[in-house]
Amino acid sequence: MLEEVLEANGGDMIASLQIVQRTLVGAFAVVILSVEQPDMIYAIKKGTPLVLGIGQGENFLASDGTPLVQYTKSVIYIGDGEILRLSAKDFQIYNSDIQEISHKTSTLEMELSMIEKDGFDHFMMKEIFEQPKTILDSMRGRITADFSEVKLGGINKYAPQLYNANRYLFLACGTSFHAGMVARYVFEQWCRISCEVDVASEFRYRKPVIHSGDAIFAISQSGETADTIVAIEEAKEHGANIFGICNVVGSTISRVSHEGAYTHAGVEIGVASTKAFTAQLTVLYLFGLKIAQSKGTLSPEQIKQYNKELLAIPNQVAEILKMSAEILEISKTLKDAHSMLFLGRGVQFPIALEGALKMKEITYIHAEGYAAGEMKHGPIALIDENVPTVIIAVKDSNYLKVISNIKEIKARKGKVIAIITKGDKDIPGIADHCIEIPETSDALYPLLTTIPLQLLSYHTANVRGCDIDKPRNLAKSVTVE
Ligand code: G6P
Repeated sequence: MLEEVLEANGGDMIASLQIVQRTLVGAFAVVILSVEQPDMIYAIKKGTPLVLGIGQGENFLASDGTPLVQYTKSVIYIGDGEILRLSAKDFQIYNSDIQEISHKTSTLEMELSMIEKDGFDHFMMKEIFEQPKTILDSMRGRITADFSEVKLGGINKYAPQLYNANRYLFLACGTSFHAGMVARYVFEQWCRISCEVDVASEFRYRKPVIHSGDAIFAISQSGETADTIVAIEEAKEHGANIFGICNVVGSTISRVSHEGAYTHAGVEIGVASTKAFTAQLTVLYLFGLKIAQSKGTLSPEQIKQYNKELLAIPNQVAEILKMSAEILEISKTLKDAHSMLFLGRGVQFPIALEGALKMKEITYIHAEGYAAGEMKHGPIALIDENVPTVIIAVKDSNYLKVISNIKEIKARKGKVIAIITKGDKDIPGIADHCIEIPETSDALYPLLTTIPLQLLSYHTANVRGCDIDKPRNLAKSVTVE
């Protein structure tokens, strides 16, 4: 198309790109090299990210800031409809009316060390082990010293829309969607208000009913997931207020949201998301507490108690990480599995889904996550001695029901790996393997139960010789619909 338009416009690249830009449908980022101008690069974009890195005597283009940090920290995020002309020495940016515009340069807030492996074999393992710190970083400065209050600096003008919303909706994809599912359980319990959660790609196409008083949480590690961006646009058109929960500072979702809060997990390189997930959970808990406080649906004592327990989580995660070698031994028993089940009830159901997702993403073992109560409605048919089940069986309000599930699996000769609360005397006698985690309150358990599942997937992928940081067919950031 560009060749034809160029010919019709006497070879004027900028004018031709303006026409092409307006004609193209959908999301794109296009970078153009012309044999006529070998020292020049042109670029246009819509919907998908494009970052210009400004170096000394050299300039760069990338879809994300991360690969640029080893060359420069000065970047410009190119906007939709803009046209960029770039040489090694300088650059010009034009708006859609072909007027040259100037952009503020942003500084990447990351260090090269953040994208190195720090002695770990894989980024995923490094990121799993960073979680005591990243969970704490996501809470840092957000809980007052006396534990009585949550403070979210990113919520200002839109605070009334957040606290008085008629409904909370969580939109996301992949692992971030599972964080949204956890939040639905927690917000309903803490804030006593109707909540919905949907995968962004479904939300957009199901003609959703959106009201102007709805508060939508858009959850995204990268902040660039195309489906989530499009779903936000749809919701915005209907007058919903968007609160972004993103990890990448300055990303598209953080910019198109009305307000929000960053997760402070740092750069996540491993395709299978780990530390970004627990950071999302942390920030969502803080939002839940903040809203409950404003609505008075939790008492000041309850808020204090949850805040104290949240602050204890990083050390508890560190304790679980010490069991990595034990979990490796369990992983060895999964080396040749073809199919697995992951079960959990209540707030642990999304964690079962996340455990199964992690397992399939990096080990290629078929893994299904199910609400444990649904087991008898189908998945039980799969169970035999060759289909191991991972079940989250911590001492929460569903404990006794989950024990029944374990017994049903054992009666069918299924192998059971149970995630249990430390000191549990009953399940070790029934399950084949147990992984003990420290105690916390029911709602906060997901921050702990997810850790052994990450390690289990990691070690299983490793014993199977899989390429952990670059699993086949997957992308870290999915910028196409
Ligand atoms: C991809 C990644 C997942 C991630 C999902 C959503 O599928 O492989 O790890 O959970 O996108 O990405 P986001 O950046 O929006 O959280």
